[in-house]
Amino acid sequence: MILEAKEIRKSFTEGKESFDVLRGIDFGVERGEIVSLEGPSGSGKTTFLSILGCILTPTKGDVLIDGEVANAKKLNDIRKRSLGFVFQQFNLFPSLTALENIEYALNVKGIRGREARLEAERVIEAVGLGDRQAFLPRDLSGGQKQRVAIARALAGKAPILLADEPTANLDSVVGTQVLELFRALAKKENRALVIVTHDPKVRAVADRVVKIQDGRLS
Ligand SMILES: Nc1ncnc2c1ncn2[C@@H]1O[C@H](COP(=O)(O)OP(=O)(O)O)[C@@H](O)[C@H]1O
Ligand SMILES: [Mg+2]
Repeated sequence: MILEAKEIRKSFTEGKESFDVLRGIDFGVERGEIVSLEGPSGSGKTTFLSILGCILTPTKGDVLIDGEVANAKKLNDIRKRSLGFVFQQFNLFPSLTALENIEYALNVKGIRGREARLEAERVIEAVGLGDRQAFLPRDLSGGQKQRVAIARALAGKAPILLADEPTANLDSVVGTQVLELFRALAKKENRALVIVTHDPKVRAVADRVVKIQDGRLS
């Protein structure tokens, strides 16, 4: 299993009150598998995805990447090598072109210069935006921005892709196109893809659907 979560619990404290968002979640995903994780707003989807992505530490439980516990010592390496993220709001730098946004993400992962340029060109072609490389985000449509964000997640060949409501800011037709593209690219390169969402369209591209409710999976 490329990504596993064992007995994940997460509590937030506000003043003297503590409340449990995640109450013991076991989850796993294989390479090449696409999972839709559904749940209503406030059910803990973003919290759980952030824990899977080693951005947020669980109160209890472990995340395993390729069988190894993601402990503090390994976190930097894991974030660089193993994980790619796609967000609802695209999160592109407005002053960087589409290609530069991808190159920048590669630079952060330690991939630089010509190697980064070639990899960025490869993935921007893969999402069908080879002719939009030099465009700034403001000159791209929502669907195009999300395709750049998908390219950025794919760049560097991380085996695990995590997406947080990637269709929430897209209309239905464009959302479907983006999901189908995302599915095809993840499958082609044998990546694991976890999409958290309350968009029922995501089911159509998923191999498996799990639901989060009251802090547990069903
Ligand atoms: N950093 C935080 N501090 C306190 N409460 C939080 C924090 N992050 C999330 N929460 C709370 O945890 C619950 C789940 O949030 P979230 O994971 O964002 O849900 P979803 O993504 O499913 O809408 C919500 O009640 C939210 O207010
Ligand atoms: Mg959320």
